Amino acid sequence: MKTTQIVLLGYMGSGKTAVGESLHKQLQMEFLDLDYYIEQKFNTPVTAIFEQKGELFFRAEERNALEELLQRDTPLILSLGGGTPCYYDTMEYLKGFDKLKTFYLQTGIGTLSERLEKAKRTRPLLAHLKDLDQIKEFVGKHLFERNPFYLQADYKIVTDHKSVETVALEIQNTLT
Ligand code: S3P
Repeated sequence: MKTTQIVLLGYMGSGKTAVGESLHKQLQMEFLDLDYYIEQKFNTPVTAIFEQKGELFFRAEERNALEELLQRDTPLILSLGGGTPCYYDTMEYLKGFDKLKTFYLQTGIGTLSERLEKAKRTRPLLAHLKDLDQIKEFVGKHLFERNPFYLQADYKIVTDHKSVETVALEIQNTLT
């Protein structure tokens, strides 16, 4: 069955949005970023949703938004938030769609930490961390907890030392 829904998942900073945009250009399919969709829906940045309503509210709305988008049943490239696969039964839920494939963008702790040090401001879960060493320690533990969810993806794409275009091409090569 032809894949018409491509779902990108992985830790914060793994390049989900950039790879999604590249696939969008190459495949001419609609691309949506789940965080961006939620921000538009609530007219509020994710960091402010966390601050004002708390993480549990965000997780529930994140799942609602995912269901809204997938129930449309239209061709779509969707990048999830880093935590989306790790709450509720989301990985099981994603497996229920015949034409949907999930891709785990797997990136090493060192690369993730360096990227996230620069982009910490927009990541509420990292706001309390003071320096690169603290970020590395946090990311290492967090990734260990999340990997069991991420590794349930249909494909694992290692992204270290690869360009966004190369990662996008590897994804395209798996599509039938
Ligand atoms: C989160 C990742 C973020 C965003 C929120 C929580 C997480 O998305 O959904 O800050 O729990 O890993 P990105 O992975 O796009 O940064």
